[in-house]
Amino acid sequence: MNVILLGPPGAGKGTQAQRLGDAFNLAPLSTGDMLRDEVKSGSNLGKTAKEIMDAGLLVPDDLIISMISDRIDHQSGDGVILDGFPRTTAQAVALDDMLEAKNLRMDFVIQLDVDEDAIVERLSGRFSCTECGAGYHDVFAKPSEDGVCDKCGSTEFSRRSDDNPETIRSRLQAYRDQTAPILPFYSEKGVLKTVDGMGAMEVVFNDIKEVVSAG
Ligand code: AP5
Ligand code: MG
Repeated sequence: MNVILLGPPGAGKGTQAQRLGDAFNLAPLSTGDMLRDEVKSGSNLGKTAKEIMDAGLLVPDDLIISMISDRIDHQSGDGVILDGFPRTTAQAVALDDMLEAKNLRMDFVIQLDVDEDAIVERLSGRFSCTECGAGYHDVFAKPSEDGVCDKCGSTEFSRRSDDNPETIRSRLQAYRDQTAPILPFYSEKGVLKTVDGMGAMEVVFNDIKEVVSAG
């Protein structure tokens, strides 16, 4: 099974991709995470991407498309969950061609619907474990023991440099202008499902499970 999670910044794509991946043995592929790895490694792609990401803009389509194609080929599991890709019409068309060439198909495109007010609150409280990448939130998803990662026990955490009010505004604008227009593309194909992303994480997860289980 192959799934796309679509939604604005802070909709819960990463949170739900992890859960869905664990439940259905699917490989979560986040283009944002891949780009942050490139930034960390100091590669040329990382250097180009860092400035664009900190401005809240989108990295050029050709760079993203070649990066993801390779990952789809090398994933292990019973399918993929695409988180943060595609984000433009050109990426959606390229993904279609890519899947056809690999003899694969997209089973579900799940749009996580959230209010813009909640987005700022979610992103400004987000942090993650520097060691294993586990995601947390100051209010909604605190570690059981303050300052200690539930998953790996590390005490090092970090916050994303693009989670500041100004960059969040640009990211939202990029979503409205360049990503939301791809929704009709998937709706016409009959694979688009919308899930209310405003509930608690478990509730949203159950709704997503219901969608994919219903087929
Ligand atoms: P990317 O990393 O994809 O960021 P994004 O789309 O802005 O989404 P986020 O990761 O911020 O949010 P999320 O939906 O994953 O939410 P999360 O689950 O963490 O992209 C970053 C940048 O990279 C882009 O701006 C662009 O520059 C570049 N880029 C990436 N892909 C690209 C592409 N394809 N093309 C071009 N450029 C690209 O949740 C957020 C917080 O809320 C967490 O703290 C979580 O604990 C909490 N939370 C989650 N769900 C709930 C809930 N139900 N209730 C309460 N709190 C919740
Ligand atoms: Mg994410």
